[in-house]
Amino acid sequence: MQSTLSSKDKTVTNDSFKTEIIAGFFTSPKRITSKFFYDELGSSLFEKITTLPEYYLTRTEISIFERFLPEMAAAIGPKATVVEFGSGSGTKTRMLLGHLLHPRSYIPIDISRETLHRSAMELSIQFPQIEICPIHADYTEEIRLPGLRAADGRTLIFFPGSTIGNFTPPEAESFLRRAASLVGPRGALLIGFDRRKDPRILEAAYNDSEGVTAAFNLNLIRRIDDAFGIHIPAENFKHYAFFNEAKSRIEMHLVSLEDQRFSLDGNEIFFSKDEHVVTEYSYKYTSESFQMLLKAGGFEVERRWTDPKDYFEVCYATLAD
Ligand code: AVJ
Repeated sequence: MQSTLSSKDKTVTNDSFKTEIIAGFFTSPKRITSKFFYDELGSSLFEKITTLPEYYLTRTEISIFERFLPEMAAAIGPKATVVEFGSGSGTKTRMLLGHLLHPRSYIPIDISRETLHRSAMELSIQFPQIEICPIHADYTEEIRLPGLRAADGRTLIFFPGSTIGNFTPPEAESFLRRAASLVGPRGALLIGFDRRKDPRILEAAYNDSEGVTAAFNLNLIRRIDDAFGIHIPAENFKHYAFFNEAKSRIEMHLVSLEDQRFSLDGNEIFFSKDEHVVTEYSYKYTSESFQMLLKAGGFEVERRWTDPKDYFEVCYATLAD
């Protein structure tokens, strides 16, 4: 197992968190990028979300994998190298690696060092014959892969979970273009996305009755407290999520419940009562609009699989020539 970043990265990550938080509070409207949800507590709240009755996404995608992984593995072929952006809990990765024919290596890329090394460790026990090369990096930025052995099978980018939905369509397109150039001419993509559907179903998934999604959203306030050594009472903000039909996206906001002022490392930040901070976009695509997005990003759809309710879709795409 190899790791590519130095041990100083914990402080680097914290500095970039602070820098990006402050920058996002100086824009109008204010923004916090959703990649900051996933610290230790945020990641465990997200795992809890995936088990909620209203949050159909994860279990629906897993049901698609359970049913169609043999077909997916046949399309991908033997000796694949699997690159995964955001390694998460590893459930779907284990399913995929377990179905592929003689997979060569697995390269997880994650912003969280703990998540990355935990999943790399677990996978190396379950799949001792697969070379595992974790990369600690922010995949929304430029990254490079360690030398891939080209003569083997395909290099597959595995991007499940509808994470692509967090990007705006232009961001998603440039992400796909970078991904395409990263994997080279024999590259392929296995990607999951959430389908556009009845807004009531979508909105329920982001406003669960137990309030776990609200806690997940408000965890950002606690992270800011910790990083800057301040205390913002959690009651000063509330979770708000709705489906924006015109943009075809769920939006998650934090709403300031009063006029408030904070000093973040000497930067005075002011929130007025009812001011909104956008914390996440989760775009919902039709089969057609997603196919067009992939095409714009340089990929050609080869196969697609969905569930009986058409709630979620998994696409297999190769590089267009
Ligand atoms: C992990 C980005 C797919 O957009 O549904 C869950 C994150 N946000 N509940 C999503 C999330 C609120 C999730 N993704």
